[in-house]
Amino acid sequence: MTNDIGDAVSDAVSDAVSDAVSDAVPPVDALDAAWSDPKLANVVYHDWEAATYDDKWSISYDDRCIEYAHDIFDRLVGDHMHLPAETALEIGGGTGFFLLNLMQSGVATSGTVTDISQGMVDQAVRNAEQLGLQVSGQVADVEELPFDDASFDLVVGHAFLHHIPDVDQALREIMRVLRPGGRFVVCGEPTRKGDFVARRLSRLTWRSARFAAAVPLVPNNWAKSSEELEQSSREEALEAIVDLHTFDPERLAAACMRAGAVDVRTCTEELTAAWFGWPVRTFEAAVKPGVLGWSWANFAYRGWQRLNALDRNVLAAVVPDGFFYNVGVTGVKP
Ligand SMILES: C[S@@+](CC[C@H](N)C(=O)[O-])C[C@H]1O[C@@H](n2cnc3c(N)ncnc32)[C@H](O)[C@@H]1O
Repeated sequence: MTNDIGDAVSDAVSDAVSDAVSDAVPPVDALDAAWSDPKLANVVYHDWEAATYDDKWSISYDDRCIEYAHDIFDRLVGDHMHLPAETALEIGGGTGFFLLNLMQSGVATSGTVTDISQGMVDQAVRNAEQLGLQVSGQVADVEELPFDDASFDLVVGHAFLHHIPDVDQALREIMRVLRPGGRFVVCGEPTRKGDFVARRLSRLTWRSARFAAAVPLVPNNWAKSSEELEQSSREEALEAIVDLHTFDPERLAAACMRAGAVDVRTCTEELTAAWFGWPVRTFEAAVKPGVLGWSWANFAYRGWQRLNALDRNVLAAVVPDGFFYNVGVTGVKP
């Protein structure tokens, strides 16, 4: 680990975390400590999740995810930036999903993936090596980035800001490490209203699947065992510790401006696509691996694609931004 917080976190839970990586769920001691410390909770939870993270979220480094990552970047940035960026930094990068796929689409030539979880950084570096990309990895807390002022042309992040205790401090740090004229692009953050609906749909699906799996006398050759389902319920409880915020698009833009950004704009994504996608993913988590097969995967992906097109091309014109599930924001350092 490379900074004070990283060292403190590492010392405090090193034994517990190493157990957590191999165990089915993080050990009770680590969880007890993490309950009152959101940063520690992020390390424990994401270290434990790192090895299976790409599978869990259907993350790949092929055309499907390259197109997805480039598309959300392009909707925010368009032709407002000269590409490729020479020095790109990813914050809360996890296994590298956003930066590695953006690099493959030509957005940057070299990059650094950072995350507060060592397990995630290690996985991101392995992914980058397999893809032959020029990427280094570093453990870093976004509230205290271990980089000099004005180090990067581009800072990107996907689905990380809602985990950060002090969002304003994180945005100030992003602005500090950008060079003047540099741009940040943060995508995939849950909106307040979108998250409210998606979580309820997800919970309803989970309860229905557990109920269907437990009905006596009905053959159950599709659902995971009750122990596995119970474990997944505990995982969901863990997630609740690390998910700290949802965002209102206007307030997020205002926070970026407070941090010193100019040319700030937001873009929201996924309305019906999220109403479809969350229950689908939740149902998949209740089913034994291999049972659903290719036609289900095709149905899930094509269904999401069609609804995403409906959201963008039709509903975006009539439904207020805040109802969509994801918000992205970009801005420039003056
Ligand atoms: C939901 S995951 C998203 C990972 C990746 N960006 C993606 O979209 O697949 C959020 C990531 O943020 C990281 N994270 C949480 N708190 C952080 C902090 N204070 N500083 C840096 N990264 C953090 C977590 O460890 C985790 O890998």
